[in-house]
Amino acid sequence: MIAIDPKNQDVKENYKLLIGSVIPRPIAFVSTLSEDGVLNAAPFSFFNIVTADPPMIAVSVQRRNGEQKDTARNAISRGQFVAHIADEHYIEAINETAASLPPDVSEVQLAGLTAVASTNIEVPGIAEARIRMECVLEQALPLGGTDGSPSCDLLIGRVVQFHIDDALYNNGRIDANGLQPVSRLAGNDYAKLGQQFTVIRPS
Ligand SMILES: Cc1cc2nc3c(=O)[nH]c(=O)nc-3n(C[C@H](O)[C@H](O)[C@H](O)COP(=O)(O)O)c2cc1C
Repeated sequence: MIAIDPKNQDVKENYKLLIGSVIPRPIAFVSTLSEDGVLNAAPFSFFNIVTADPPMIAVSVQRRNGEQKDTARNAISRGQFVAHIADEHYIEAINETAASLPPDVSEVQLAGLTAVASTNIEVPGIAEARIRMECVLEQALPLGGTDGSPSCDLLIGRVVQFHIDDALYNNGRIDANGLQPVSRLAGNDYAKLGQQFTVIRPS
């Protein structure tokens, strides 16, 4: 085994170990609304469930040269965002939205995606997604950083509305094969759902 003390590596080296090890990562496609009303959307693979009681999810938005990305700034200023599950049929469009664009340019329009009004919050969702979760910002935690300013904003969202494609919903469960989720590996690599198997948990 190779033993590595992260303190002896720079940020990029530690980043590479993390993104290559924590795989496959689910991808949230997050829409937010700027203070000027521009609909913003971008993918985030530092994403997971926090708790089901009440339903909460977390997305970690890294800062860029110490500056908050539009997603973090908008989610914090509006207190709302929509998280969509990335899937095979719109992953190319999602990828297009990851370009660094000025805050007044809507990535949604640029990628040819369709905005859809939310039911419980003012931030629209993306119609192409087959699962979307309207979220109210529960907490935004500035974390990390070695020079006194944080390296990321951890957005914790409370889900106030689920929207699920009829074809994927069966008696309270989600059809994983129908969803065709896409996950992130390191670099530009992605993975589809692989071979599935069952392990019965001991009682
Ligand atoms: C598949 C994928 C996953 C990504 N995951 C993250 C992530 O977890 N955290 C992050 O800060 N940026 C992530 N990015 C980069 C952001 O999507 C990118 O910086 C985007 O421009 C941010 O948009 P915004 O400035 O509109 O918020 C990811 C990009 C891709 C393509």
